[in-house]
Amino acid sequence: MSNAALPEPDGVEPAAGVPRHVAIIMDGNGRWAGKRGLPRTLGHRKGVETVRRVVRHAGERGIAVLTLFAFSRENWNRPRSEVSELMALLRHFIRSDLDDLVKNNVKITVIGGRADLADDLLQMIEDAEGRTAGNDGLELVLAFNYGGRDELVRAARRAAEAVAAGTLAPQDLTEETFTRFLDTARFPDPDLVIRTSGELRISNFLLWQSAYAEYCFPATLWPDFDASHFDEALADYATRQRRFGAVPVSIAKP
Ligand code: FPP
Repeated sequence: MSNAALPEPDGVEPAAGVPRHVAIIMDGNGRWAGKRGLPRTLGHRKGVETVRRVVRHAGERGIAVLTLFAFSRENWNRPRSEVSELMALLRHFIRSDLDDLVKNNVKITVIGGRADLADDLLQMIEDAEGRTAGNDGLELVLAFNYGGRDELVRAARRAAEAVAAGTLAPQDLTEETFTRFLDTARFPDPDLVIRTSGELRISNFLLWQSAYAEYCFPATLWPDFDASHFDEALADYATRQRRFGAVPVSIAKP
């Protein structure tokens, strides 16, 4: 892990400022729909509008990486119609928004297991990643068919394969080298993890990467989450003093 964010021993407790990487568990679509007597799928559709809002706002606030948890491996256990809707929504999002994202300099990466995804969806994902690969603005990371434990097992498997192939010595497998086998190898760890809807769980999201993240649990349901809610979470984050397991500067000083 990088020590870059450790407090400087200058006697001032640094506030956290603007997070470089914000990761969001977009929760509450079903309840939003239920409250209105609508099918859950309409809550997910409404949730896509929030995705657009949040992507735009993250760019405006100077956030470098935005990760959104769009479909978990556990979500396969939902009714077949809901799973189909969530798959259809990713297709729809890529079809309808990719041109805009390309134009707005957003770079897309999809993390998660790819083996279980339909061929046409895989093709669309690869196309979205390919068409935005040259962009250097906001990094939009969509966690789709993602589970933290699954990612860790896949990473461990890749590391084992590297050892078996003789390209990695077992003693060179460290926290830093292991990180390179994760789906998120290119990205800094999340500074701020937000889960909407008031649920206080992390649900298998970015388990390795969030070891020192700050958390925020707004009660707002995802379809209602807007720029002002996002700003509230950012303002809350800005007040945090991050210590990464060390002690406050004032105590550390002799
Ligand atoms: C959790 O709410 C949300 C999901 C399982 C899916 C999130 C998906 C979207 C916001 C739309 C897809 C976006 C893209 C970009 C493809 P829930 O259904 O668990 O809500 P509940 O807890 O109220 O039932």
